[in-house]
Amino acid sequence: MSELVRLERRAAVAIVTIDRPERMNALSWATVQQLGELGRELASDPGVRVCVVTGAGDKAFCAGADLKERQGMSRGQVREMLSAYRSELAWLEKSDFVSVAAINGAALGGGLELALTCDLRIAAPLAVFGLPETALGIIPGAGGTQRIARLLGESRALDLVLTGRRIDSSEALALGLVNRVAPSAEQLLDCALKWLEPVAEGAPLAQRAALSAVRAARRLPLDEGLDFERAAYERCLDSADRDEALLALSEKRKPRFQGK
Ligand code: COA
Repeated sequence: MSELVRLERRAAVAIVTIDRPERMNALSWATVQQLGELGRELASDPGVRVCVVTGAGDKAFCAGADLKERQGMSRGQVREMLSAYRSELAWLEKSDFVSVAAINGAALGGGLELALTCDLRIAAPLAVFGLPETALGIIPGAGGTQRIARLLGESRALDLVLTGRRIDSSEALALGLVNRVAPSAEQLLDCALKWLEPVAEGAPLAQRAALSAVRAARRLPLDEGLDFERAAYERCLDSADRDEALLALSEKRKPRFQGK
């Protein structure tokens, strides 16, 4: 099987690169399967604190569904693909590490949906974003309608989903679709790594508790969310890292966290 997705490890950071630049890193069946396999491997490794997802080349982060492959698919196969997006990409929002899309170029259709499945997003200045599915007689089918509405609110989500218009990185930043825009494409990865340094090097239990509590806000009513937050706080309160942080503060030094 050819390698459609590459993995690079830099200490606690995993960098996952979709490597099909000749097809604009489009999501073929095999690419989605490889993303799923890799994700399960990373999710079982407690040493991973941050996972950056990006695309090879300078044109596309991911141009969505592989439209050439899609032409030859039966309706049943398309249905299987929709299920695969959900099952194979879920690790991006369910693992103990934070996932970050480093959007190096076009993020269109399923490509933007992939970025939306990540916890955070950083883009290159010339990246473009859009959900053009309705122009193809379909709708976003990899969670895009749900995640973009939760992220941007209904009104902004409808603007993008119904018109299918493409937006640039400054509009994406103004809308809140991306957290940051790097000064240049060349600096994208370094910017992402610098930005996430406090996560990669911070107190592991606190980072995990904070991530799970904020993620819980997506699905829980407020009262249940407050209970969830309280339980997550308890896990930190009992930790040796919390005692170490207080001690380090009084000794005016950097804390040495052990994840305990
Ligand atoms: N699936 C499969 N192949 C794709 C693709 C996709 N989603 N998007 C682009 N490609 C292929 C093109 O067919 C072309 O292949 P070819 O040279 O064999 O014809 C190659 O990638 C380069 O694409 P091209 O459009 O010439 O590159 P570009 O730099 O001018 O534009 C994009 C790049 C990403 C902006 C443009 O390809 C695009 O808009 N793609 C469609 C994305 C889309 O609508 N996705 C939503 C699907 S719901």
